[in-house]
Amino acid sequence: MDTAGRVTAEELHWDPYDYDLHRDPHPVWRRMMDDAPLYRNEQFDFWAMTRFDDVLNGLVDWRTFSSAQGDQLEIIRGGPIPESQNSIISNDAPYHTSLRRLLSRAFTPRSVSDLESVTRRFAQELLDEHSGSTSFDYVEDFGSRLPGMVIATMLGIPDGDREYIRRTTDEQLHREPGERDMQRHHRVAAELVSYYSEQLADRRAKPRDDMMSALLAAEITEDDGSSRKLTDAEAVAFIKLLSSAGNETTAKLIGWIGSSLAKFPGERVKLVKHPELIPNAVEEILRYEPPALCLARVVRRDVVLHGEVVPEGGVMVFIQAATGRDPRQFPDPDRLHVERKIERHLSFGFGPHVCLGAPLARLEARIALEETLLRFSEWDVDWEGCEVVHTGSAVRGYSKLPIRVD
Ligand code: HEM
Repeated sequence: MDTAGRVTAEELHWDPYDYDLHRDPHPVWRRMMDDAPLYRNEQFDFWAMTRFDDVLNGLVDWRTFSSAQGDQLEIIRGGPIPESQNSIISNDAPYHTSLRRLLSRAFTPRSVSDLESVTRRFAQELLDEHSGSTSFDYVEDFGSRLPGMVIATMLGIPDGDREYIRRTTDEQLHREPGERDMQRHHRVAAELVSYYSEQLADRRAKPRDDMMSALLAAEITEDDGSSRKLTDAEAVAFIKLLSSAGNETTAKLIGWIGSSLAKFPGERVKLVKHPELIPNAVEEILRYEPPALCLARVVRRDVVLHGEVVPEGGVMVFIQAATGRDPRQFPDPDRLHVERKIERHLSFGFGPHVCLGAPLARLEARIALEETLLRFSEWDVDWEGCEVVHTGSAVRGYSKLPIRVD
């Protein structure tokens, strides 16, 4: 403790790049919630908040906590975002509001439910490859493949290019332990920009029935009421964001479904008996093990939080993945309970940037779980063979989850 009775940094240390901690960050987050609700990390020069109410209020207050330099600590620290990689996620109102109005049309309940049958067919194909076998990797063979197939279909990426897109997108998101230099990230991102620019040029010449063509035809309404088409750079940035934001996070959610239900087999039995509980189980797993870790913002004005001043120009990290285990919000938070009544959780973020793809992620996760339980009502995880992925401070989850299904 320091002289003011506060827990000091030496006593409580949260390093967003400590991959050993990624395996189970919840005990540290609980201590931050209880003992240091406004946490200060001198080493990487940021503040962090973990309590449900603090994170919710902070994410809503975009005037104080700005997204204009991106939403990840290493992106903010990496200097100005190259123009070619500026996207909806790294902007505030009013530009963000107009762009979001236009792009949210891609995620109406109707357009998402149109993807139900194709998602189910992909899930069935992937899982049927393993019926009759005694083991397979639930993430490598299933969870990491399904979201890419769905998004590629939605966007209209040609079949032959899908593996290339999956590999390159993974490479862009991957971070070696300790890697903070953003050069490699920007180089791979530029490769994707050039691929999508060519795809857009093809559709400009010959429109098709896919989201890329729809984006070219769409008009954005400016603040003064005038309208214009999206520039190529805006369309490319959005496509690139969808293929990365939608792939990695949903793949990790499917992995968390596989691991969490193996840890709580009694809850899995309930789902086999009562499949109507599956949508609520998806929300509960999102609360219990959120795939997206934390959201960083640049502080735009001095602000007093828990009695301390966080100065203008500082970086605030909202650890929304901690909030699902806040006992102030969720009783008995370390227990998975598929019938839990969840009024809301913050695993898709909150406020102006709340995840646009949440309806699609929910649909994919529900179908993945339905189709899994139809084929395999029980499985065990080979915990020794599991690997937790390293994607900077943004995403947490398994890249390998070997399971036994006999
Ligand atoms: C389980 C899966 C997913 C999780 C946990 C997740 C999480 C998040 C979070 C936390 C944010 C807020 C970012 C911020 O405040 O800075 C976000 C934004 C976003 N997500 Fe997702 N996401 C998932 C799936 C998807 C999918 C499937 C798509 C689309 C195909 C998608 C597209 C987006 C977009 C476009 C934004 C930016 C919205 C904006 O800036 O207004 N996400 N997501």
